[in-house]
Amino acid sequence: MERQIFAVWLIFSSQILLADPAGQQNAIEIYSLHVDCKVTSRFAHTVITSRVANRANESKEALFEVELPKTAFITNFSLTIDGKTYPGTIKEKKTAQDQYDAAVSQGQSAGLVRSTGRKLEQFHVSVNVAAAGKVTFELIYEELLKRKLGKYELLIKVKPKQLVKHFQIDTHIFEPQGISLLETDSTFLTNELSDALTTVQGETKAHVSFKPTITQQRKSPDLEETLLDGDFLIRYDVQRSVAAGDIQIVNGYFVHYFAPSEMPIFPKNIVFVIDKSGSMSGNKIKQTKEALQKILKDLNPEDHFNLILFSENVAEWKPSLLPATEENVELAKQYVGTIRAQGATDISGALTTAIHALDKATTDELLPEQSISMIILLTDGQPTTGVRDVHKIQDIIKLANNGKYFLYCLGFGFDVSYTFLEKMALDNGGIARRIYEDADAALQLQNFYHEVATPILKGIEMKYLDYAVQETTQNNFKLLFAGSEIVVAGKIGNEIDAFPVEIKAQTQISNLTLKEEVNVAEKEEVFQHQKYIFGNFIERLWAYLTIQQLLEKSVSAEEDQRKSLEAQALEFSLKFNFVTPLTSMVVTKPDAQEVANKPTEADNENFRNGGVLLSHPGIFALKKGYLMEGYVSRSNINPDSDIDFRFSGVLDINSKHSRIGAPVRRLRLFKSSERQYPHFILQLPGENSIICLNITAHSPTPSLQYLLSDPNKGIQVTGQLGEKKQFVHFEIAYQKADVRINVSKDHIVLYDNRNATMLPWTTTISFTVQGLNIIIEEEKSVSISGADNITIKISYVKFPERFLGLYFIGSENFSDQVTGLLGQFYFNSYFENPTYGTPSTWRPIVVQGRNYDTTRQRKKDYRVESSKDTVSCWALDISP
Ligand SMILES: *[C@@H]1O[C@H](CO)[C@@H](O)[C@H](O)[C@H]1NC(C)=O
Ligand SMILES: *[C@@H]1O[C@H](CO)[C@@H](O)[C@H](O)[C@H]1NC(C)=O
Ligand SMILES: *[C@@H]1O[C@H](CO)[C@@H](O)[C@H](O)[C@H]1NC(C)=O
Ligand SMILES: *[C@@H]1O[C@H](CO)[C@@H](O)[C@H](O)[C@H]1NC(C)=O
Ligand SMILES: *[C@@H]1O[C@H](CO)[C@@H](O)[C@H](O)[C@H]1NC(C)=O
Ligand SMILES: *[C@@H]1O[C@H](CO)[C@@H](O)[C@H](O)[C@H]1NC(C)=O
Ligand SMILES: *[C@@H]1O[C@H](CO)[C@@H](O)[C@H](O)[C@H]1NC(C)=O
Ligand SMILES: *[C@@H]1O[C@H](CO)[C@@H](O)[C@H](O)[C@H]1NC(C)=O
Repeated sequence: MERQIFAVWLIFSSQILLADPAGQQNAIEIYSLHVDCKVTSRFAHTVITSRVANRANESKEALFEVELPKTAFITNFSLTIDGKTYPGTIKEKKTAQDQYDAAVSQGQSAGLVRSTGRKLEQFHVSVNVAAAGKVTFELIYEELLKRKLGKYELLIKVKPKQLVKHFQIDTHIFEPQGISLLETDSTFLTNELSDALTTVQGETKAHVSFKPTITQQRKSPDLEETLLDGDFLIRYDVQRSVAAGDIQIVNGYFVHYFAPSEMPIFPKNIVFVIDKSGSMSGNKIKQTKEALQKILKDLNPEDHFNLILFSENVAEWKPSLLPATEENVELAKQYVGTIRAQGATDISGALTTAIHALDKATTDELLPEQSISMIILLTDGQPTTGVRDVHKIQDIIKLANNGKYFLYCLGFGFDVSYTFLEKMALDNGGIARRIYEDADAALQLQNFYHEVATPILKGIEMKYLDYAVQETTQNNFKLLFAGSEIVVAGKIGNEIDAFPVEIKAQTQISNLTLKEEVNVAEKEEVFQHQKYIFGNFIERLWAYLTIQQLLEKSVSAEEDQRKSLEAQALEFSLKFNFVTPLTSMVVTKPDAQEVANKPTEADNENFRNGGVLLSHPGIFALKKGYLMEGYVSRSNINPDSDIDFRFSGVLDINSKHSRIGAPVRRLRLFKSSERQYPHFILQLPGENSIICLNITAHSPTPSLQYLLSDPNKGIQVTGQLGEKKQFVHFEIAYQKADVRINVSKDHIVLYDNRNATMLPWTTTISFTVQGLNIIIEEEKSVSISGADNITIKISYVKFPERFLGLYFIGSENFSDQVTGLLGQFYFNSYFENPTYGTPSTWRPIVVQGRNYDTTRQRKKDYRVESSKDTVSCWALDISP
């Protein structure tokens, strides 16, 4: 279900150019860059050719970088230098790696391909070019464009980074069914540049060409900079006249496309299972709430739904699934508004509850007879409570679900184990998707929902006569969504004249049978004499699809079967020359060899880099040389010894001390004092050093502290220590404006002329009251700024327990009247110059004439967002 895109990103390293002495600008000149893309019946074959010349009088390194879609397989790469071609060769991954290891000295980086974001991976290679020498790079890759939300999409990401004399993107599309829609779009096309774009569209063919001259490429007439930098998109769809889909035949291979239109949509019974553990706090929970509000609004009135929120506890919104009436949706939206992130992650408990909820609704006959039941899980982490062994969870869920409901797993960010989620989804008829932690995360969630929101067929069987076909790709499908498409390919078995097909499926209202028979000779005729055809494209399409399906199947297969599936996928990859996760391409350069591997989703994960095995709660085996982060209570090493600690062996972790809600994955040892937040972080006027101030309250009961008063500015601040000896409540009074603000862990109360307004921590809002600017950032901070340039900011901290951290911005603007526990620091206080022999970890400070000693420490810093950040400061304890 990956959105099908198609991308090219061409860059030549600008560093090379910048490093050149004056007068040798563009020493490495790209004089020709050609992207040639042929799409024949959704199968895209792209050739990128870049010709480069070294204009310098000494040898230079030229870098070739291309971004291509993750869903594409590279099939060839070659270098041509001085008329000699160095082709790449595709081998089994292990063989390629051995060859590379033998050729290159140890310790060099291996990968020529790396994942760069959601949809793209980057291929890069550099080569030395002699003075006045030339080199040609050629990269070829192929992919099947998948239909999503009614369109096939091709994204060409262009970034040549210099003006190119001959620049051209040529896309030829040939769709025998007929092209029903074609649009081009780009993020960099200006009016001048649009002249460089030509689109010719016929009934079955289209040609989109983009050929800007050097002048058109310039950012402005007198600049050498290119404005080619961004996305170039082509979207299209095809005609569909035959109900049983379209069959195409070339050289003994067939492909069958099926995407019925105007089918009724099944009602859905959908349980949203949302992770609200501590690690979701901040932007993630905010974006999730935003997306849920919109998704709920998009439910159809015939749909049924429920929400399950989980951390270490699992909470169902309602005791049973409810119809998605306007009223229920409204109530659910209000409920979503109250979600706050906190606690650990019990994935197993949450999913079991979801399955039981659907079981119960089915037994109670609450759900429409013909409907589709699904569970959408959103999580950002590893299971940290309940069942924590991921394999055990997979088994429990598979058994409990028993194929009844479709499970879709969305992994938010890179702290999840995608492999775990993917297997669980595939085991239960669904798919997994990663949601990237970007500004548009809410949109990614909504888009995913839209893809699965419209089931139109279930139990689809694509039947072909046994003697007519061999080695077909998957031909049974559980669900088909509006706007997508089923593709089946295979070999034609015997000399046949007629090729019959039958499709059986269930629609919302009836059982459907579609039959069709095509004439083989007629179908083969379609592709004769087409300049668009490349190789035996259906055979390659069939191989591409077979490899993808074998790899997907292997995810949820048992060990033995997995090996056999992988062996088959490897055989196909080698035979058809595809760089897949099982093969590598050995790239040969005049003086060296390098290896290009296909990155997988799992390669991206922090999990992998951390090297901590999570399957055995309590005991974590660390790979040698890994850094440890997080909290470690009991171990054979002294937690106070050093900060960045290298460790190998087995570590015993007391889960009570691990950060609740966050996956204990990479562990780093902190000095014990480094785990603490100081009460206050402050800076003396005119000094750069930071002071971490702690109030040592002697009274055992929580007490009110008089923190600051500046009668000149009319500001007074008091605070209250909670039971855990952290501040849990602050009151700020602006006497001139008669405004008081009462901030607690639960809410913020504003008194304006004695009128009280309560503001929850769950909103982001900014407003002005009596000349004071007040900004509340959801579950993060509140800041109040007055006309005297003093801002009082209070951070809301959740770990290790909830408390409030206060600090001032613009404290140099307090008057000489300022007093109080904190106030005394802002006038007539200073660090004394250390005398000879004073240790560097120790400094005297004078506060209103009294001498104190401070020590150099590192503390956690609540002024920044990440709870991992620490501040280096001079620590001081004072008593009221
Ligand atoms: C290369 O060109 C630079 C600048 O044009 C010049 O200073 C240098 O001497 C030349 N080197 C050779 C080997 O010709
Ligand atoms: C790869 O490209 C090179 C150079 O064009 C060519 O010689 C070689 O045969 C190609 N390899 C395959 C497997 O097509
Ligand atoms: C539709 O097909 C299903 C499964 O093949 C069968 O159980 C059901 O009875 C059929 N319904 C009708 C109305 O024919
Ligand atoms: C501040 O003092 C409290 C007890 O009063 C203590 O729990 C906390 O760890 C101290 N923090 C620092 C940074 O010293
Ligand atoms: C501020 O809130 C706290 C508790 O939330 C309460 O005890 C205190 O009285 C409030 N202050 C005022 C002035 O209302
Ligand atoms: C409280 O607010 C209302 C409406 O904004 C206003 O009319 C009233 O004067 C305020 N009360 C006080 C004591 O300021
Ligand atoms: C101080 O406050 C005034 C008015 O609020 C504002 O215009 C000015 O930019 C502020 N100065 C600084 C340094 O923040
Ligand atoms: C507050 O401090 C800023 C920065 O030091 C200064 O520019 C500004 O004039 C001060 N404002 C007042 C009202 O003293």
